[in-house]
Amino acid sequence: MILGFRDVKRGFPDKPGKILAIINQKGGVGKSTTAVNLSAALGVNKKKVLVIDFDPQGNTTSGYGIEKEELEHDIYDALLNDYPIEDLILPTVENGVFVVPATIQLAGAEIELVSEMARETILKNILAPIKDEFDYIFIDCPPSLGLLTINSLVAADALLIPIQCEFYALEGVTKLLESMKMVKSRLNPSLDVFGVVMTMYDVRTTLSKQVVEEVSRYFGNKVFKTIIPRSVKLSEAPSHGLPINRYARVSKGALAYARLAKEVTRRG
Ligand SMILES: Nc1ncnc2c1ncn2[C@@H]1O[C@H](COP(=O)(O)OP(=O)(O)O)[C@@H](O)[C@H]1O
Ligand SMILES: [Mg+2]
Repeated sequence: MILGFRDVKRGFPDKPGKILAIINQKGGVGKSTTAVNLSAALGVNKKKVLVIDFDPQGNTTSGYGIEKEELEHDIYDALLNDYPIEDLILPTVENGVFVVPATIQLAGAEIELVSEMARETILKNILAPIKDEFDYIFIDCPPSLGLLTINSLVAADALLIPIQCEFYALEGVTKLLESMKMVKSRLNPSLDVFGVVMTMYDVRTTLSKQVVEEVSRYFGNKVFKTIIPRSVKLSEAPSHGLPINRYARVSKGALAYARLAKEVTRRG
């Protein structure tokens, strides 16, 4: 039986909820893959997780097998139409893991938000009343530094930055950290980097190894010990609408995200 979000107990009943923005303005680095598979792995460990799909591409939504065409409302309606967030929270195949979906409708928000009052704090205000009902709330960010991303930076307690093991991995990261600092100084003083996760690691190349070393020099112990390997199974899972732990339970991708979930939990 699939339970509504108010029927599921939290794994950390005494701790405040934590909002993590899964962020990197580069596209294709593994944000959505991490949002889906890390949340599912945390769900397996009895944590209660909400994933806000905040990218008009809606990859987290479809990655969890939610049919976008059948949705009447999505996160756009909470942002711009005062639609109650509680009514947007959908259950997933993973017990304890819930999704607020996004559709292409969200693309309009980037422009429509410009004329809104307090346009940078809308997501923060939407999440405030439900924050402590979850152990973690993930925001799967779009690949840009526009108003949706600024809203994520204002709403988040900390950032989870996926970095792909490839040339120019750190390109753009300085810009992201500048945006973080700007938001930190004006709107969200406690914002910080929660962790950096290296993705699509290829054991056959020395490049992957070099990139991990370079990123580790830059971010120090913020880099998670768990490295996500490049894996065909991880790229196939979304087309089946399943997280990796359901699609290929004993694959190296599933193992890696399970390990990452443990590390995330240890960090708080
Ligand atoms: N570890 C991985 N191994 C293989 N393919 C991956 C891996 N992580 C992501 N992908 C694939 O790479 C593409 C981009 O990943 P995605 O998570 O959508 O990135 P982003 O959300 O940052 O744009 C997708 O097709 C996804 O299936
Ligand atoms: Mg994405």
